[in-house]
Amino acid sequence: MKTIFSGIQPSGTLTLGNYLGAIQQFVQLQHDHDCYFCVVDEHAITVPQDRLELRKNIRSLAALYLASGIDPNKSTLFIQSEVPAHTQLGWMLQSISYMGELERMTQFKDKSEGKDAVSSALFTYPALMAADILLYNADIVPVGDDQKQHLELTRNVAQRFNNRFNDIFTIPEISIPKVGARIMSLQEPTKKMSKSDSNEKAFISMLDHPKKIEKKIKSAVTDSEGIVTFDKENKPGVSNLLTIYSSCTGETIEALEKKYAGKGYGDFKQDVANAVIQLLEPIQERYEALLQSPELDTILDQGAEKASRQANRMLAKAKKAMGLGRVRK
Ligand code: TYM
Repeated sequence: MKTIFSGIQPSGTLTLGNYLGAIQQFVQLQHDHDCYFCVVDEHAITVPQDRLELRKNIRSLAALYLASGIDPNKSTLFIQSEVPAHTQLGWMLQSISYMGELERMTQFKDKSEGKDAVSSALFTYPALMAADILLYNADIVPVGDDQKQHLELTRNVAQRFNNRFNDIFTIPEISIPKVGARIMSLQEPTKKMSKSDSNEKAFISMLDHPKKIEKKIKSAVTDSEGIVTFDKENKPGVSNLLTIYSSCTGETIEALEKKYAGKGYGDFKQDVANAVIQLLEPIQERYEALLQSPELDTILDQGAEKASRQANRMLAKAKKAMGLGRVRK
């Protein structure tokens, strides 16, 4: 059975983009893969976080994974900082990552642009992400489109390690959904939908009230043409709504174009809103119940234990390959 690893940062409530680009894939993959899903809290602290908010967000993200359909009997769900091997291997991989390749990362450029206090951890972030993946010998990493560059770097670093020291790491493949790999902002549809957007109308949070979801979709930026067709270049707003509709319902974009031929944006937007609400409402209900339950802690304890066993095995191999520590006499 192939192994899957993926992670999500607990930095604010997840958006519809996180769900359609990442979590939806996770839920499908867990049936026939050995899956590890992680709350990557150590990645979140590469930018300033409020201590209490972070704590809340970690638990909330774990509950959202489960509410979305991650089954703890099939997948291992855990918190990154509860498995110390991640930062240990992360450090080791920093020693074989080059400044030049890290400088090229667009996520670093975007997040550091215009800021005067940029942490060194934000810069070396991709080495920790490589460690996350390589500790589990993941064959496949399901992510949204924006993580492509980090995955490419992970593959290069793994290859470098294998060539320089010992052939121990699996070179992971990236898995990106055919539709929904890059959900765009509802207000500026040429920009990615992001939980850190300062305009709340630009993104749908997975926990938004149905009325709010409807309002946000109805005020989504489109164009004045009044024709529902997919054309990313010239009609980014309508194309984004078509993508959202298609990913929420499984109907193809072509089928949706036919369904709305001759109809205006009013009906279309109402139906997109209904599709999103139908998808998120049951998740929201399960989430509320899970958040309060001690079951969540049991699942995370067991997850950390299982992940640690695997991660420590790989960490020991990597240390040996690099010559760290000592050999007992
Ligand atoms: P993060 O927390 O920013 O996002 C989590 C996942 O959601 C996807 N995503 C999107 N997909 C479609 N449309 C969008 N608008 C959208 N926004 C986000 C992301 O591609 C991602 O799959 N560096 C990672 C976290 C990470 C990780 C890992 C991922 C750390 N270690 C190891 C995979 C494997 C990140 O910041 O994702």
